[in-house]
Amino acid sequence: MKTNQDFEYEASAAGRVNIIGEHVDYCGGKVFPAALSLKNTIRIRKNGTNEIRLSFTDIPNVFHLPIDRLSEYKTVKYASYFAACALALQDAGISLVGCDVLSDCTVPFGSGLSSSAAIEVSFIAAILALVGAEKSKVEIALLAQKAEREYVGTQCGIMDQYASACGKKDHAMLLSCDDLSCEYVPLTLGDYALVIANTNKPHSLSDGKYNERREETERALKQLQTRLSAPCLAAVTEDAIKENRDVLPGVLYSRALHVATEVKRVEKAAEAMKKGDLESLGRLLKESHASLRDLFEVTGAELDALADAANEFPYCLGSRMTGGGFGGSTVSIVRKDKISEFEAFVSERYERAIHYKPDFYTAEIADGITLRKIKG
Ligand code: GLA
Repeated sequence: MKTNQDFEYEASAAGRVNIIGEHVDYCGGKVFPAALSLKNTIRIRKNGTNEIRLSFTDIPNVFHLPIDRLSEYKTVKYASYFAACALALQDAGISLVGCDVLSDCTVPFGSGLSSSAAIEVSFIAAILALVGAEKSKVEIALLAQKAEREYVGTQCGIMDQYASACGKKDHAMLLSCDDLSCEYVPLTLGDYALVIANTNKPHSLSDGKYNERREETERALKQLQTRLSAPCLAAVTEDAIKENRDVLPGVLYSRALHVATEVKRVEKAAEAMKKGDLESLGRLLKESHASLRDLFEVTGAELDALADAANEFPYCLGSRMTGGGFGGSTVSIVRKDKISEFEAFVSERYERAIHYKPDFYTAEIADGITLRKIKG
């Protein structure tokens, strides 16, 4: 059994909760996530071989990834994210060295809280430290996104990897996904807390539905560009979408309308948070969920049951799905002294509708990457 002291570096990166701004990052919009204390930690040391030897604290699997044959592991469960990141590092001109890697994840898998971004970002940060290469947190986030897009196959935006790398304790991040400028907004919720509820419906973004939504937004933009000049879909207003409905056939109209209205909600939510207007923030969360359900169609029975139950609870100001959807988690603004009542109330209704239980976590907002030299 390896102990902490056997390793040279320890790098952690966070899971994330997105307060609002869903399915707008890849459309060039603003998002409003925060990094969680749920995280992935990588411990790493050189091993003098030509392999990345990968083990985990919570599963018995061990993988030996030859550095010159990484692409063979691109689709191997548990190893794929590591192979993808190592390939992205090689593409960026980083010479990899043989190493032992121990991965410890406290972000529940499939929860929609970005366990994959936490793994990718922490692994890339650990490798860079081990080989003595300097990269900024934003560069690490971009490398992780590249790994996910080019080698895992999910055409994701930048929100998850950015929040995982650049998160700040007790702050939400108002991130502009077009130019990556980021305003840190203190998370001041007073008597309230963010409660995350996991549907426990396994969710995976690489199964195609996520990429399908992304393509629909790209097609909607192309159609709109036949009428108006817009650099990205998030720059097109709700009015412009309504006026040009005739060039947006089928679902393209509702997809575009979600993006335009969600972009406005993000602005309003950040303002509400800055003013401490939690009632308005809660209302925006509810509207966001409805839009993701009716216009973007990424919720499903489980997320709807969970958000509906939360929104019926008298001391919950608002609840919505968070992350990519199709399963995963909700985020709710709940009065701190009512959290256990909230959990019992929501759990009972959810189980009645869906026939299994959800899980709950009270969100602690933490830093993104943290790096520590252990020895050597
Ligand atoms: C996933 C993706 C993000 C973002 C969200 C939806 O989490 O990784 O880039 O698109 O879905 O907002």
